[in-house]
Amino acid sequence: MARVNLDGSGAGFRRTDSHVRGLGRSNPNQPAEKPLLVMEDVYKYFRRDVPTLRNVALEVKRGEFVFVTGPSGAGKSTLLQLIYRKHTVDSGRILFLGRDVARLTERSIPFLRRNLGIVFQDFKVVPHWTVYENVAVSMEILGSPVRVVRSRVAETLERVGLAGRGNERTERLSGGEQQRVAIARAIATEPALLLADEPTGNLDPALAIDILTLFEEIHDAGTTVIFATHDHALLQTSPHRLIVIDEGRLIEASQGLRAWSARMHSLSA
Ligand SMILES: Nc1ncnc2c1ncn2[C@@H]1O[C@H](COP(=O)(O)OP(=O)(O)OP(=O)(O)O)[C@@H](O)[C@H]1O
Ligand SMILES: [Mg+2]
Repeated sequence: MARVNLDGSGAGFRRTDSHVRGLGRSNPNQPAEKPLLVMEDVYKYFRRDVPTLRNVALEVKRGEFVFVTGPSGAGKSTLLQLIYRKHTVDSGRILFLGRDVARLTERSIPFLRRNLGIVFQDFKVVPHWTVYENVAVSMEILGSPVRVVRSRVAETLERVGLAGRGNERTERLSGGEQQRVAIARAIATEPALLLADEPTGNLDPALAIDILTLFEEIHDAGTTVIFATHDHALLQTSPHRLIVIDEGRLIEASQGLRAWSARMHSLSA
């Protein structure tokens, strides 16, 4: 089996440490839960003079569905990349399940793998693998027993509408179906948080709504979701919490979508 990173792109992996198992599962007997994700005064610089993200503060509670939007180049992907540690903050802190993401050691990477699922615009499935192999990999790299992997993959394919398709080569599936495979891979480990970076960007409008609906079903079943998109049709389809990233700043915009939409239209005109 080939090796995949958190972002599905090659390089090594480690088996999980037993002490991280079970983190991220909600416990109904604990009423006062800490937020799932906290960003405190986060700055990220790709250029020395202008920060890509500045003074970003964000709290996401378990069970939320959060849309992230904003103009191209504003920093939406960067925000998500800091959460899954493709990059680390230059100042400030990101706490995920109470742990400082930037300070996780190599040994703790399975903690992120187990508790975070990630879906990308371009699917990042391995085309010549079967559907089964693409979904199973996220569990295999955590060392899950074959028997558990088999039954979980079957269950997960059913959840995403691909029941019985495990033996097909992934490249033979349509774009919408390949994205469903990627979503199945992301949720097979039952992560606490599902991140999506423009997951409908390569799909036509009707398919985009189908995929959003699938994310909403996953959310309804208990997973916290952060969904980045600049597709206004999607933002208007569903009344979720909305945050806007604009020139690296984060704004809570749940009350002001119309104003932000108008501004974004004028920017892209
Ligand atoms: N690895 C990197 N190295 C240098 N600059 C980067 C890097 N990643 C992002 N940037 C810069 O940071 C800014 C924000 O990029 P980001 O990809 O986060 O924007 P975005 O809001 O996701 O845009 P889009 O809607 O086009 O996906 C851009 O100016 C981009 O060029
Ligand atoms: Mg982006």
